Amino acid sequence: MEKLVSLCKRRGFIFQSSEIYGGTGSVWDYGPLGVELKKNLKDRWWFSMVRARDDIEGLDAAILMHPKVWEASGHVAGFTDPLIDCRNCKKRFRADDPKIKGTPGQPDGQCPACGMKGTLSEPRLFNLMFKTFMGPVEESASLVYLRPETAQGIFVNFLNVQQATRQKVPFGIAQIGKAFRNEITPGNFIFRTREFEQMEMQFFVDPAAQAPQRTDMEWFEYWKAQRMDWHRSLGLDESRLLFHQHDKAELAHYARAAFDIQFDFGGTLGFQEIEGVHHRGDFDLGRHQEHSGKKLEYFDQPTNHRFIPFVVETSVGADRTTLAVLVNAYREETVAGEEEGRTLLKLSPSLAPVKAGIFPLVKKDGMPEYAEKLATELRKRFPVFYDESGAIGRRYRRQDEIGTPFCITIDGQTMTDNTVTIRDRDTLLQDRVASDRVRDLISERIAG
Ligand code: GAP
Repeated sequence: MEKLVSLCKRRGFIFQSSEIYGGTGSVWDYGPLGVELKKNLKDRWWFSMVRARDDIEGLDAAILMHPKVWEASGHVAGFTDPLIDCRNCKKRFRADDPKIKGTPGQPDGQCPACGMKGTLSEPRLFNLMFKTFMGPVEESASLVYLRPETAQGIFVNFLNVQQATRQKVPFGIAQIGKAFRNEITPGNFIFRTREFEQMEMQFFVDPAAQAPQRTDMEWFEYWKAQRMDWHRSLGLDESRLLFHQHDKAELAHYARAAFDIQFDFGGTLGFQEIEGVHHRGDFDLGRHQEHSGKKLEYFDQPTNHRFIPFVVETSVGADRTTLAVLVNAYREETVAGEEEGRTLLKLSPSLAPVKAGIFPLVKKDGMPEYAEKLATELRKRFPVFYDESGAIGRRYRRQDEIGTPFCITIDGQTMTDNTVTIRDRDTLLQDRVASDRVRDLISERIAG
């Protein structure tokens, strides 16, 4: 992880937020390459969940919502962690922190930070939602929360979207957006942060559906399989992915059944959740109907019956999946015949922030002009990086390190027959092809 964090900073993927002021706890900024990588990931999700289907609609709901939303959703009462305060050093710990010795609230309870005994409070529930005020007056009547999940924006818009699009149950609503949680134990780079992006989809189904239609549990199984396939399609190794079923104690307050898709981050982290697939029943729509006083029932014309749909939710973190993709891609390799090894990001071409490096072999004989013209042409289709500085081997290495799948070199032969070499990042093999075929060849490889 340390090597990856260092590469991400050095090459402009991810920086610590407000670094010149000493940084902000567990908040990160995406640099020029990181923003492209995460955007490619989000685009792939949006394509597979919204564009490629006719039964899911897109939405972009606001971060700030009516405070009653969070009472109805159960977050005001239940989105809490039990915490312990030290009266001496004022530090806070999760109640299950293994570093705490003795019993908190008792004379033998010892603070893991300052070492004092008898200064730890009993566990108290601490809400993870960030609060702020809407409008000029800071009073309880104007209290609002930064959303801790995007899902509630979908629930409160369920009928708006259904009526506007005339979708029939079963159908889904998807959105990508920021969420905020005042996590007590954030860390591991962008794995657990206080500001992050979620890609969530709520699929509304008829609780009474019978064969030949899929039942709610069959939709749940369907979405589990779809979502696992999507993670595999990103290039995440099969052996690093698994399902983890929530037992009764792990189930969130809204869930009837839940599975995590876990990825093996290696090191001390090991297998950890990157996505949750949850059967939320009619909990959310039922609660919003109750708290708002507005009917959120769906009317099924063919059967003439009204019902509150069940919801199967898929919820994946864009940042956490970006980290999984980076961890999965990171390699250090020796290269036959070369003293120096190479560091490599073996990213899927569709996710790579730069698709091709364009290099004139030398800075003369018309090669730079030819290469720049080719770069301008290719840039119309995908991001490329033009580089004429330093030895060609070093230029290749710089692209390997940021995961660029192809490098195109313009050499003496190009100037006589309009062919260029394309080097493959993973095999290191070079093919000579006509320069006017490069755009289509690379486009095909990116599309997979
Ligand atoms: N609407 C359901 C929901 O929010 P969740 O399991 O709490 O479910 C879903 O979160 C996903 O959001 C997680 O699998 C993870 O990828 C991401 N996520 C949650 N908390 C996060 C945090 N503090 N930092 C980064 N990603 C987080």
